[in-house]
Amino acid sequence: MRLFVGLAPPAVVLDDLEAACAPFRPQAMDLRWTSRELWHITLAFLGEVGEETLPKLMPRLERAARRHSAFGLSLASAGAFPSPARANVLWTGLSGDRKALGELAMSVSAGARRAGAPPPDEGRRYRPHVTLARCRAPVDVRRIVSELSGYEGPTWAAAEIYLIRSTLGGSSRYETLGSWKLRPRTD
Ligand code: 2AM
Repeated sequence: MRLFVGLAPPAVVLDDLEAACAPFRPQAMDLRWTSRELWHITLAFLGEVGEETLPKLMPRLERAARRHSAFGLSLASAGAFPSPARANVLWTGLSGDRKALGELAMSVSAGARRAGAPPPDEGRRYRPHVTLARCRAPVDVRRIVSELSGYEGPTWAAAEIYLIRSTLGGSSRYETLGSWKLRPRTD
C-alpha cells in the first residue's frame, strides 16, 4: 500500500484557503485543482509499504510524535514545482514554527526507516507545502503565484500526525490508518 505521514490543517484553515483560491479556479483551465478533502502537509512520503510493516511502523510513529510538542503553523504565500514559469505543481507554503515542522518531519522519517519503511526521498531537502493544483504539461502560473504571494491564513496548533493510505486512480482517495498526538504545548 502507498503511504505517507502528514498533518491535517483544521476546517477554519481550509475554509480560508478555499476562499483565497476560489478566484483562480475558473481561470487556469489546464490546472487540475485538488479538492479540499485532500489538502494536507506531508511530513514523510513512504511510497509502497507492505502490510506486514504496519505493526512496526505504528509504534515508531507514536514514539516520534511523543518526542515533539505541538507548535504553531499557518499556510502562507505560494510557489510552484519545479518553477512558476513551468509548473507541474502549484502550492501554498507554511509559515510559523518551521523549525519544529522540519524536526518533526525528520523524526517521522527516521522512525519509518527504523520500521523498515525508509522514505524514498529521505536526504532530499524537506519543502513543506500543500498542493493546490497539478498539471502534467508545464504551465505558467507566475500570475497566480504572484497574486497569492501575500496570502497568510489563520494560525493553528499542529498537534497530531496522521498515517495515511493513498489510493491512486481517476481521483485519489486518502484513508487514515492511524493518528498520534504530539505532546501538549508547554508555553
Ligand atoms: P505533493 O502534494 O507535492 O504531490 C501523497 O502522495 C503525498 O505525499 C502528497 O502530498 C505528495 O506531495 C507527497 N509526496 C512526497 N514525495 C512524493 C513522491 N516521491 N511521490 C508521490 N508523492 C510524494
